[in-house]
Formats: sequence, structure tokens, C-alpha cells
Amino acid sequence: MMPQFGKLLEETIGMSPEVLGDKSLARAVRERMSVCKLENEERYLEKLRSSPQEMEVLVDIVVIPETSFFRDKGPFATLGQYARDEWMPARHAAPLRILSAPCSSGEEPYSIAMALMEAGLKSGEYEIDALDISRALLRKAERAAYTQYSFRGVPVSLRNRYFESVGNEFVLKDQVRQGVSFTRGNLLDGHILASKLPYDVVFCRNLLIYLGEEARACVVSVIERLMARNGLLFVGHAETSCFPAARFVPLNPRAAFHFRKIEPGPVASGFGAVAAIPSMVSFPPPVQITPKKPGAPQITEQPPREIPKSKDSVEAARQLADLGQLPEAAAICERMLREDGTNAGAYCLLGIVLQGLGKLPRAEECFNRAIYLDERCYDAIVHLSLIRERSGDSAGAEVLRRRAARIQQQARAL
Ligand SMILES: C[S@@+](CC[C@H](N)C(=O)[O-])C[C@H]1O[C@@H](n2cnc3c(N)ncnc32)[C@H](O)[C@@H]1O
Repeated sequence: MMPQFGKLLEETIGMSPEVLGDKSLARAVRERMSVCKLENEERYLEKLRSSPQEMEVLVDIVVIPETSFFRDKGPFATLGQYARDEWMPARHAAPLRILSAPCSSGEEPYSIAMALMEAGLKSGEYEIDALDISRALLRKAERAAYTQYSFRGVPVSLRNRYFESVGNEFVLKDQVRQGVSFTRGNLLDGHILASKLPYDVVFCRNLLIYLGEEARACVVSVIERLMARNGLLFVGHAETSCFPAARFVPLNPRAAFHFRKIEPGPVASGFGAVAAIPSMVSFPPPVQITPKKPGAPQITEQPPREIPKSKDSVEAARQLADLGQLPEAAAICERMLREDGTNAGAYCLLGIVLQGLGKLPRAEECFNRAIYLDERCYDAIVHLSLIRERSGDSAGAEVLRRRAARIQQQARAL
């Protein structure tokens, strides 16, 4: 019977039964059977299959919560250096977006926040999302009170700067807490964090080592989807070979725990339903919709257009957007659109940039315009679906998601 519990857990959270071990699994199952007053393992298996709440409780028991503040030190030092030497001088309009997944009881995302504060970033200049599957661990993270055990190897002076001593615990100060948002979720879920903008930095440490092969591949593709082009990825020391070398380059051979996500590859856009998104501004061959006339074909091939000789181009604007220079990128798109109001690519990029600047109604207009001009404008469809989802129009979002998936399938078939 135990192998069936192991298999069910592997299907649910990805944890390999070998890692969990027969004895630990049997102990956890017995513990829950006793609480549920069930004597028959088959009955408990049925309960697990039919009750997500019971599965949650069992998951809380079997997950490996091991973590600590500034665990392995190197990643946090590297992040601080990156924030100070690269991110801050570039004076980005949008905050630095970081994901810690899995985050266990909060030590990792809070260490990220402290590393950024130590580097000189102010509140509002960064946003940290943290995700884990265990509700019990997330409750602990939100409480943000830790014993000395969580500070192994952390200098006392650093601890005292950010924590207040209360009884035998150290309680995190609000200035650190407020920069971190926690979410419960499963990294095997292809839709996870679907409404979020891409992350500039992702910490995905010390989970992949516990997963079976299939689950590992699944988490890798989820993380890849969530990351921005050129984003930084931090993994655990034993996980440096888990991400595809063609798309993740090690940044320093002597510190092989961090990578930069490079082209070619999907660009994260927080779009959960479609695993791979070709590029922020890569469009299918130009096909334009002409205004509908009865009996006339609705889609016509657009004749080749002369490339403007000015240095304004969608590519130049995209590069600025990638560097976080959003107002400058928007200005290029607007100039291009004044010259040629049928440029779907410029409208789409302008929409993405305006979204980054928090101007959602204008962004929505731009995506609609891009899709009107180019019905196969994949990125505009994807972004518009996200806007619809966020505004509560799930049905509208779903229609757009299906449309994007069809375009992607057609592109793959070519
Ligand atoms: C060893 S901790 C790593 C925490 C932190 N990243 C670190 O390195 O210190 C592993 C965490 O993965 C979480 N976890 C396990 N399976 C998961 C899944 N499928 N989705 C999200 N989190 C998961 C567990 O709840 C646990 O908190």
C-alpha cells in the first residue's frame, strides 16, 4: 500500500518517493490515519484522493523545510552586488522584481530583502514575491518570528539591525516584512503566478534535488516561464545542472549557483496557459486585417514595407525596455507610430511598456490596436488576456488564451 501513497505524493508535489523514504512516509500516513480515525489504509488513500484539505495536511508533514537566513551566503552577496553595481546605476523606472520559490518559512525571501536594503535599495524600489506549497510554513513566514537556530552563521550585528529580541525569539522589523508578499502554490502547476509580470531575479533553491525527473522538468519550465529575458537565476549548489545550458549561462564559473537567462527562449510574461512564449516582440510573418467589406477576404498579405532610415526601431525600443528605460522606450514607439500608424509591433511594445509603467487603460488600448492591425500578434493577445484576467473577465481571458495557443501551435507546425 505504501508505494501508492508515495506515487500519489509524487504526482501531487513532485517529491521523489526515494527521497521521502518508506519509513518517514509510513510514519506520516499512520499519524494522519490516527487523527482521521481511519484504520484502513485504503480508506485513507481514498480520503487523500478526494480531499484537497487532507492532502494539504499530509504535504505539510512530509515536505523538507530546511532553510536558514542567508543560507550559503554567496547568492545574497552576489544579489546585493548586482543591485548596487548594475541595477541601481541603470535607474530603472519599475521596481526590481524578485521571486523566491520555494520560500519555506520565509528566511530566504527576508534575506533577499535584507541583502537589497544593505545594498542601498529603498522600499518601493524592489518587490519580492515568495511562494511555497506548505501552508504551515507560510504561516510561520508571515509570523516572522524566529529562534537563534535560523541565524546559523549570520553576524549578530546584522541580525540585530533587522530583528527585535522578544523572549527567546527574534521578530523581524516591519521595514523588511513589508517588502515581501507570500503566496501558497505548487510549482508543478503550469498556471502558477500566471497574472504576475516577469521576474528579474528568481531564487529556486533546494527543491529540484528532492524531485523526480518529470517533476523537475515541469518546475524548470515553470521557472523559465516566470523569468524575464536576461533575468538572473539562483539555484542550490547541487542543482547547477538542472536548467538547460542553451538558455541559462553561468555568470561566474567560480560561483556556479547563478545564471543569466538568455535568448533564444521563451520570454516570461506571466501567462500561465502557454508554456513557451517566443519573444517579447517577435511577431509572426506580417498579416494584416483589412476593414471588413461584404464578400471581401478579411485577411490580406501586407506588401513589404520600406524600413524607415531613422534609428528608431521596435528593436531599439525593446532594448531600452529590457534595460528598464521604460519612458524612453515608450517615446520611441510613439515616434514610430506618428510616422506609421499601422505598425502592430510598435503598438504591442508600447502596450507592454505602458503596462510596466502602470498605465493599464492605455496599455489595453495599444494591445487592442495591435491585434486589430495584426490578428496574429501573439504577444498582444497574451498581454490582453492577462489584463482581462486581472479585471475579473475570466471568460474573455480564456478566449484570448486559446487564440494564443492556436497561434503557437501553428507556428510550431510550420
Ligand atoms: C528545503 S526547502 C528550500 C527553501 C529555500 N529555498 C532554501 O533554499 O532555503 C524546500 C521547500 O520546498 C517546498 N516545496 C516542496 N514541493 C513543492 C512544490 N511542488 N511547490 C512549491 N513548493 C514546494 C517545501 O514546502 C519546502 O518549504
